[in-house]
Amino acid sequence: MKEYNRYMVTSALPYANGPIHIGHLAGVYIPSDIYVRYLRLRKRDVLWVCGSDEHGVPITLKAKKENRTPQQVVDEYHELNKKAFQELGISFDIYSRTSNKVHYQMASEIFKTIYEKNGFIENQTEQFFDKTANQFLADRYITGTCPHCNNEHAYGDQCEKCGTSLNPIDLINPKSVVSGDKPILKETKHWYLPLNQYETFLREWILEGHKEWKPNVYGACKSWLDLGLQPRAVTRDLDWGVPVPIEGADGKVLYVWFDAPIGYISATKELTPEWEKYWKSEDTKLVHFIGKDNIVFHCIIFPVILKAEGSFILPENVPANEFLNLENDKISTSRNWAVWLHEYLQDFKGKEDVLRYVLIANAPETKDNNFTWADFQNRNNKELVADLGNFINRTLVLTEKYFNGQIPEITTLTDNDRHVLSQIKTIKEDTEISLEAYRFREGLNAAMNLARLGNKYLAETEPWIVYKTDVQRVKTILNISLEIIFNISILFEPFLPFTTKKIRHFLNINAIEWDKIGTGGLATPGHIMNPSSLLFEKIEDAQILQQMEKLEKSKQQNIQLQTKIVPQKTNVNFEEFQKMDIRIGTVIEAEKVAKTTKLLKLKVDTGIDKRTIVSGIAEHYKAEEMIGKQVMVLVNLEPRKIKNIESQGMILMAENSEGKLMLMTPSSQIENGSEVH
Ligand code: 2FM
Ligand code: ZN
Repeated sequence: MKEYNRYMVTSALPYANGPIHIGHLAGVYIPSDIYVRYLRLRKRDVLWVCGSDEHGVPITLKAKKENRTPQQVVDEYHELNKKAFQELGISFDIYSRTSNKVHYQMASEIFKTIYEKNGFIENQTEQFFDKTANQFLADRYITGTCPHCNNEHAYGDQCEKCGTSLNPIDLINPKSVVSGDKPILKETKHWYLPLNQYETFLREWILEGHKEWKPNVYGACKSWLDLGLQPRAVTRDLDWGVPVPIEGADGKVLYVWFDAPIGYISATKELTPEWEKYWKSEDTKLVHFIGKDNIVFHCIIFPVILKAEGSFILPENVPANEFLNLENDKISTSRNWAVWLHEYLQDFKGKEDVLRYVLIANAPETKDNNFTWADFQNRNNKELVADLGNFINRTLVLTEKYFNGQIPEITTLTDNDRHVLSQIKTIKEDTEISLEAYRFREGLNAAMNLARLGNKYLAETEPWIVYKTDVQRVKTILNISLEIIFNISILFEPFLPFTTKKIRHFLNINAIEWDKIGTGGLATPGHIMNPSSLLFEKIEDAQILQQMEKLEKSKQQNIQLQTKIVPQKTNVNFEEFQKMDIRIGTVIEAEKVAKTTKLLKLKVDTGIDKRTIVSGIAEHYKAEEMIGKQVMVLVNLEPRKIKNIESQGMILMAENSEGKLMLMTPSSQIENGSEVH
């Protein structure tokens, strides 16, 4: 095993065009905070950097939409996110940003070094250009009709309706977002990173050298490599970003994914003049914490940039997480389907650790996971209040009551006492193994075993009963329980830093050291503690309901937004309208048409006759539901053969833009054959 003397830890730089939500936290920021807090407690030499990713097209689009400059947008979210992280106890050594000067210099220098080593390929291609606005158009700046699903609002890189990734030239009727005009194709030059030339190196380095990476990360890298790598453009025609630092590149900036990861290095440089030691020494362990959508950038593209530059180390591990869903639906900024950190901090003041706890207990480490408010409440009430909080509060209250808050001495130890004390060290080791391997949920569960151990010990020894007959025994029991709490105050520090701070205050201690866990004798007899109060309180249904209502509101707003109204058709005159004979009928028989998914064969009593009608509603109504329903029937529609069945008329329905169908029924029962005017 390689020996490391220091750690360089990075967490994905979040885009500064929206607030932080629980998906970001569970995926990246809480796991990395736990890891770094743990390393610090072990007195390892560690730097941890993060900051705002302030470039990229979505930021310019948002600015345009809001009639602001991109700088105004990123200034707003940089401050909002920086503050929210801080308030959740996310303890970055620096939270920098990619629009600052140090970063421009660093990104430019790295680009220039690679350029001077002939590390890029120059390539001339044709790209869409807006003549009116006199600018090239990034993929997101072009909309048009999706060739796959006819959605008229597809973007140049993706159709959000059917999910297909697109090239701008695939779009039918492409339109510039800037001027609304039809763009033309125009030649432009860009610099490409020849990823294909690094395939052998990447295969050896990752597939041979890093088999220990998490299966989701290793698997993603393997499939990228197996598909074959292509040269990738690292410059763009755009006016927001780091200008390409060479001649003949006017109006061009570095691709956001070229400059963003370099932001880690710039932030380190901003933090310390010793930054090179952390980025260029083989005995530094570089670890990137990211979400799964960033794997290719951190495991393939960024390492190739570093390798091409030549003087940097490569990541030792990239513990990427999967995604967190919210109430069984994908978290989405644009649909406002999220729990926003700054709002949580407002709504749940003083409950920072509850969120930290729940998000780690449920972290999407190996597969996508789901956050629900019910689970949040349940974990708080059952695990934090009943297991952890209850044990600590009971022990402290009993010590206050029986011994005025002074730690009693051990009189004699039973075998069980000895066994309980010996468990502390085992639990510490279990926690360490998990944290070193980036298995944070497992680490938290291991740590919770200490609270469970304490609870069980207290329940079994019943000091509140023994006190009546044997005060000496109670001294031992409380000393051991307090010993467990002293250890909890260290062991939980990476996970629940607000709680451990409170516990330290109750215990009346300041410093803690990881290596002291399980060594015994922390609860020194005679030491006087401070009065305690409850560590956690129950979360009531009303609070959860409020959050659910918030989400429901988002859902309703989304439905309204998504419902696009079909434009009105050309006018018809009254005579034309009167030609249609619409009657009320009752469905008397209904069955699914074999080998179809959409069709029902109905027998309808129209008042005039009983006739067969084939209707495309099987995905919306079951056959048995239809029987007995009164419906509107266009009775004089020319009969048509559908799947070899003659359909004699048409059932009228309302259809929304999503294709959802609703039967039109009279508001109360009326005779079959009644006319609809
Ligand atoms: O996916 C994202 O939110 C990106 N802004 C992450 C960038 S990570 C790093 F490269 F800076
Ligand atoms: Zn589509």
